[in-house]
Amino acid sequence: MRPILACQTMLFSADGASLERAYRIRLETLCKKGFQLMGSAVEKRYESTLPKIAIIGCGAAAREFCLPVLNRYRGFRNSVWLVDLSGPQAKSLASEFGVENYGSDYSCLPDDLAAAFITTPHHLHAEQAIHFLNQGQSVFVEKPLAMSALEVTNMIAAAEAGRATLMVNNCRRLFPSYCAIASKLHATEFGNIRAIRICDGSPFEWKSVSDFYLKHADQAKGVFLDRGAHTLDLICWWLSSFNETPQVVEALWDAMGGQEASMDVQLTCGSTVVELAFSRLFKLQNRYTVECDTATISGRLFNPTSIEITRQGKRQVVHVAKPRGYHEHAWQLIDNFIGVVRQTEEPFFKAIDVAPSISLIEEAYRKANAFDMPWYSSDPNIPWLRQQFSGQLSHNVFK
Ligand SMILES: NC(=O)c1ccc[n+]([C@@H]2O[C@H](COP(=O)([O-])OP(=O)(O)OC[C@H]3O[C@@H](n4cnc5c(N)ncnc54)[C@H](O)[C@@H]3O)[C@@H](O)[C@H]2O)c1
Repeated sequence: MRPILACQTMLFSADGASLERAYRIRLETLCKKGFQLMGSAVEKRYESTLPKIAIIGCGAAAREFCLPVLNRYRGFRNSVWLVDLSGPQAKSLASEFGVENYGSDYSCLPDDLAAAFITTPHHLHAEQAIHFLNQGQSVFVEKPLAMSALEVTNMIAAAEAGRATLMVNNCRRLFPSYCAIASKLHATEFGNIRAIRICDGSPFEWKSVSDFYLKHADQAKGVFLDRGAHTLDLICWWLSSFNETPQVVEALWDAMGGQEASMDVQLTCGSTVVELAFSRLFKLQNRYTVECDTATISGRLFNPTSIEITRQGKRQVVHVAKPRGYHEHAWQLIDNFIGVVRQTEEPFFKAIDVAPSISLIEEAYRKANAFDMPWYSSDPNIPWLRQQFSGQLSHNVFK
């Protein structure tokens, strides 16, 4: 067994603590190494022919993340199969990138397909990933990995049964800034973590081709699953060296039976308090603050290359890498997946590493209550509205 796989397997054994630490260090080293893999080494990888790969879902994620990377490889035009429920959508993306094979169902796929990217709406990730994993084909799923912990369990079981690799596009794990924070926290460089605060909010501007994000609560839930898939994963990763598991204390939202556009979540992990705010309506501060015993680490949420450290009232900006765009981290992870499919690389991280965040997201949704919205409760029209919408609104805001 190769070293990292050995570490991952033993991570769940009885004597987990020291092995878990060894695994984490290995993981952080791999992420850093991946980030440093530039220049000729990167160019060389594109000289070899791409394995046969399917992309399921031909919307914005396929266009922005997968195809710009895959088309750097030799044989790209004949090695990629584009599948979308909408035939015209598959055709349109195929013609944009010069891909020869496309269709509206799996019947167009070759028997010797090596791997698949799942870039469909959230609620399809588990079912579609399992389809390919069962056939022994490795899968790279867009985030969120799945809608529930049960789906994650089933996906991981399918990957094990099919002896295939399951990866997920939680590409913020590759931000050098976040890797640096993880290293410092795991080494307890600044003592214990007292509090983590993250605000993540901006009006919805992602150019998705379908309406699932905003119109179908059953397919996407709301802002918390969308943005929280990254943020909660960071929290779980950063707190992973402590023996405690993060728990949801309170979750407040504005869903009223549909999709939430704002959600505030409070967690605890031992004595650490975590406060999170998400919005799709407004631009929030979009910063993180990690308050430790002897210093506070903070920074802009989407800044992958520098962090701020404040000690005894003095703030220092630490540049941990050269400036780099958001998409490049996703592209780097996709390159890594191709290397994994070819069996020339180990995964920077696997889907199983992200599993705790999906459980936490599910718990927060289960516990969510409405924000205090006095503009509803004090409105004299409310009794009439309650009557009109009786049975249609599952939420208690009109009670
Ligand atoms: N990692 C990130 O930071 C990041 C960023 C953006 C999107 N995403 C994720 O990518 C996924 C897709 O998002 P998007 O913005 O590309 O959506 P999109 O609406 O642009 O595209 C989705 C596509 O899937 C197709 N589709 C729907 N049902 C299908 C089915 N049964 N089989 C095949 N195709 C089907 C639709 O026709 C559409 O073309 C989401 O889960 C989203 O969270 C991740």
